[in-house]
Amino acid sequence: MGSYTTLTVPTPERMNGLGERLAGLLRPGDLVLLSGELGAGKTTLTRGLGVGLGVRGAVTSPTFVIARVHPSLVGGPALVHVDAYRLGGGLDEMEDLDLDVSLPESVVVVEWGEGKVEDLSESRLEVRIERGDAEVSVDGPDPRRVTLNGLGSRWDGVDLAALDAR
Ligand SMILES: Nc1ncnc2c1ncn2[C@@H]1O[C@H](COP(=O)(O)OP(=O)(O)OP(=O)(O)O)[C@@H](O)[C@H]1O
Ligand SMILES: [Mg+2]
Repeated sequence: MGSYTTLTVPTPERMNGLGERLAGLLRPGDLVLLSGELGAGKTTLTRGLGVGLGVRGAVTSPTFVIARVHPSLVGGPALVHVDAYRLGGGLDEMEDLDLDVSLPESVVVVEWGEGKVEDLSESRLEVRIERGDAEVSVDGPDPRRVTLNGLGSRWDGVDLAALDAR
């Protein structure tokens, strides 16, 4: 059932590239949950998704905006980028965002969404980003471990391991 892989991503540029390649697997109705501590690289990955999906507008870390819709420039799905960091628990508090309305035609990517948005879809892609715990020098590499877990029938047979840049 589903699909699973874990990758090492050495740099922000490679995190962007991973997002670009992941975009190639995504289609309308896909829900992507990004988890990981502050500064893990969730927005960096989403920026790559935006490039890969060919959407309008730069993906940023919103200060006040909780959800931003980036329409497609290439006739594909819009990217709905949600930062749920400031939202309390439960789908109730997300209801004003009308994600259920936009999801069928969009790719919905949610940072800090665990426990808040799972009810939106039967299937979802969970992406967990973790920093290595080794001390790294200021100029040294700062690799991330990225675990992708496709849950539900949508992700059956999807080769997530092929996302590794090699
Ligand atoms: N291997 C790496 N992958 C991703 N980002 C990295 C990596 N190494 C360093 N970085 C840096 O880490 C930071 C990640 O920031 P980003 O805004 O993407 O994190 P975030 O998970 O969205 O944080 P927040 O929870 O605050 O929204 C960036 O400054 C990026 O340049
Ligand atoms: Mg972020």
